[in-house]
Amino acid sequence: MLVEKNVPLQACNTLHIVAKAHFLVRVASDADVQAVVASPEWGIKPKLALGGGSNMVFTGDIKPVVLKVEIMGRRLVQETSKAFVVEAGAGENWHDFVTWTLQQGFDGLENMALIPGTVGAAPVQNIGAYGLELQDRFESLDAVDLQTGKLFTLHAAQCAFGYRDSVFKHAAPTPSVQSDSTIQGLGLAGRALITRVRFSLPKPWKPVLGYADLERKRVETNTEQPTALQIYQWVCDIRRAKLPDPAVIGNAGSFFKNPTVTQEQCADIIARDPKIVHYHLSNGSVKLAAGWLIDACGWKGKSVGNAGVYEKQALVLVNRGGATGGEVMTLARAIQTSVYERFGIMLEPEPVVV
Ligand code: EPU
Repeated sequence: MLVEKNVPLQACNTLHIVAKAHFLVRVASDADVQAVVASPEWGIKPKLALGGGSNMVFTGDIKPVVLKVEIMGRRLVQETSKAFVVEAGAGENWHDFVTWTLQQGFDGLENMALIPGTVGAAPVQNIGAYGLELQDRFESLDAVDLQTGKLFTLHAAQCAFGYRDSVFKHAAPTPSVQSDSTIQGLGLAGRALITRVRFSLPKPWKPVLGYADLERKRVETNTEQPTALQIYQWVCDIRRAKLPDPAVIGNAGSFFKNPTVTQEQCADIIARDPKIVHYHLSNGSVKLAAGWLIDACGWKGKSVGNAGVYEKQALVLVNRGGATGGEVMTLARAIQTSVYERFGIMLEPEPVVV
């Protein structure tokens, strides 16, 4: 087991924030993770699983032992009359995996093309885009318990997926309450390292086209029945047009979740701001476009130090070069305050602040 010390993490987070891991271990297999957990020196220390760092804000050097997930591999596990079940190692790049599935003829992940990050990080925040969420295609995942080293498998219900949410974002109850046998279904933040994820891609494939931007592409290109590859290309084009490429401009995708309000709250806001972008949900509540709220408060293109609000999408905070995590969070708090003062809504950040 090789423990690297004082490892620069700037290239390991998509906001490109300068920070160091005091200790970092690259894990390429279940056994590598288990070796860390079993180590008398490292096993007892707090640990942080790091994938592509696409949903993290580093606000200083990282004291927990960083487990850099480099578990690779992708394969067809099973084909039934109802679905292809495909599996990928947690360290695989998400977009490369989506591209590979389509090349193999396993359609179904195309709406989630070009989302930055790794396969292992995808279930943590139940990534989603253009009318599809990871949970719609999820089959199961394997993980290692970072306290006991035991391997376990979780199915969808045990992951408690919600909008940009899962069991992996919630802290575990105190150790006295939790035992090995009860690990499944409880808060697993910091407790589980995801090693492999399996997806169930339904047969026959059906396009998911409800989202306005995709519908626009369909009409523009005069396409009656798009293929999965066409939708993949449309999603890539839409994302490239309005979202910054993290390889060029540091960012962590949408920085806040789209908030949900009651119909009464929404009616109240509409009375004051008739143009507010909102969507009625099947449960009777209303989702508001956080990007619109931030935009309406005049934040587009503004900066705090070297952290800024992206010119083409106000929901995306960017590193204009040399931003610290502190600057990003100061900007995020200033945005929260002005949105709260104008609309009475407290925006909730999407990324994990470390
Ligand atoms: N809008 C503005 N001004 C802005 C930004 C947005 O008026 O500065 C308006 C847009 O015109 C649009 C509405 O707000 O009418 C929604 O914008 P958009 O279609 O870009 O989607 P979003 O709600 O901002 C969500 C996800 C994205 C995902 C897209 C497409 C969240 C927090 N974000 O963004 O996910 O790609 O929908 O499905 O749910 C991510 O999570 O990192 C992410 C990029």
